[in-house]
Amino acid sequence: MVPVLPILLLLLPAASFSPVAHAKGRHGHSLKPHAVCSGLRVFPSSNTTWLPLHHRRGPCSPSYSTGSRTSTTTNILRRDQLRADDIRRKLSKKGDVTVSTALGTLENTLEYVVTVELGTPAVSQTLLVDTGSDLSWVQCRPCPVPPCHRQKDVVFDPSKSSTYSSFPCGSPACARLGSQYTNGCSNGQCDYVVKYNDGSNTTGTYSSDTLTMTSSGVVSNFLFGCSHAEQGFSDPDRTDGILGFGGGTQSLVSQTGGRAFSYCLPRTASHTGFLTLGVPHISSSRFAVTPMYRFRNTPTFHVVILQAITVAGRRLGVPPSVFSAGSIMDSGTIITRLPPTAYRALRAAFRAEMKMYPPASPISILDTCFNLTGVRRVMVPRVALGFDRGAAVELHSSGIMQYGCLAFAPNGDDATPGIIGNVQQRTLEVLYDVGGWAVGFRRGAC
Ligand SMILES: *[C@@H]1O[C@H](CO)[C@@H](O)[C@H](O)[C@H]1NC(C)=O
Ligand SMILES: *[C@@H]1O[C@H](CO)[C@@H](O)[C@H](O)[C@H]1NC(C)=O
Ligand SMILES: *[C@@H]1O[C@H](CO)[C@@H](O)[C@H](O)[C@H]1NC(C)=O
Repeated sequence: MVPVLPILLLLLPAASFSPVAHAKGRHGHSLKPHAVCSGLRVFPSSNTTWLPLHHRRGPCSPSYSTGSRTSTTTNILRRDQLRADDIRRKLSKKGDVTVSTALGTLENTLEYVVTVELGTPAVSQTLLVDTGSDLSWVQCRPCPVPPCHRQKDVVFDPSKSSTYSSFPCGSPACARLGSQYTNGCSNGQCDYVVKYNDGSNTTGTYSSDTLTMTSSGVVSNFLFGCSHAEQGFSDPDRTDGILGFGGGTQSLVSQTGGRAFSYCLPRTASHTGFLTLGVPHISSSRFAVTPMYRFRNTPTFHVVILQAITVAGRRLGVPPSVFSAGSIMDSGTIITRLPPTAYRALRAAFRAEMKMYPPASPISILDTCFNLTGVRRVMVPRVALGFDRGAAVELHSSGIMQYGCLAFAPNGDDATPGIIGNVQQRTLEVLYDVGGWAVGFRRGAC
């Protein structure tokens, strides 16, 4: 799969502690956010096309409503495991995605939204950002509920857009959809399907229209799915669809020249991050840069090679070869997945640094939890990730623990590719320099 690279020595930050400003008790486990949005604190590396980005359940989110149902921690983590399992299944090509019925209705695992405009006249659409899929889609009229889900914005009506067109069956664009997304023909129109790693899917008409990101960021013939039916997307977040940022030909990045995009995921749901599109190749020395890879059997995932982890400045005694299956950079997976050999070493080092806090019972996939009841300031040891070619990335204090637990989990075996989840990416500008085959990390970006 991934070429194994020469082992490089890494210089990582010295031992020290960083305080967590907003430690939560173990009992506040629902993700119900504070009612206020703390506003914008955003520093993109480039002012090409950029958009504010929000946690979909946060008060800064355009799809937020105070009456939103909040998910329980265990449900969120079970869905997260489903996504990780299905990424693995997709990579191993052992047949189709299977849906776990144990969850009842699946809510998709994606977490972050941006607002763009579609069509002429432009209609605002709030879409989830997914680096783990390629074809984008929005709900389109007619879209009865169910099978469609309720959304906060007006449902996009193709008949009211002067720039909209759909692709007939047998058109070259329809043929280029490829077997992954092809779903036959209805009423002479080319049908698409997108099946997600978490078991959800959407079907409808393969279409094009004008996508306006900002006044200077306009994609005139943006190819997307006009969704008329779905499975597995539920009401509470009321988003309108998904923007695909994968490495395949259908993704927004590939459609806009395949150069680059970046995002910064905010530290909490009450903060604002950003998404940029079309940023130039990495040149700034402010980025820690590592090569980007693709798996041979799917172009979708953006892959990096993690090689080392340090806790409180001390490098774990894990040989870089343990990580040689590669790690997928994913905006949609919450918890980072590591080879079990690396996870065990991380857990031991983390527990040693956290020994002043009483342990607590595991929560779902998280097995290193602490009873932080009544603790005003939790001192979390610094954790840094070292990537191929010496890129060292110190995680923000909000990127180490979640729900009072160490926010990492082991894969089934060391041969399974890891996943760098979105908790660990918080406050970093993650630059996917697709044209330059590199991923960059810039600290303190939002
Ligand atoms: C950023 O925006 C400012 C003001 O609009 C402009 O002067 C500057 O050239 C821009 N920089 C880049 C890198 O686009
Ligand atoms: C979408 O998911 C549902 C429920 O799992 C399934 O019954 C249906 O066949 C799927 N549709 C497609 C086109 O794969
Ligand atoms: C957590 O600690 C508090 C205060 O020390 C204690 O009252 C409580 O019982 C502990 N909770 C658990 C689940 O151990």
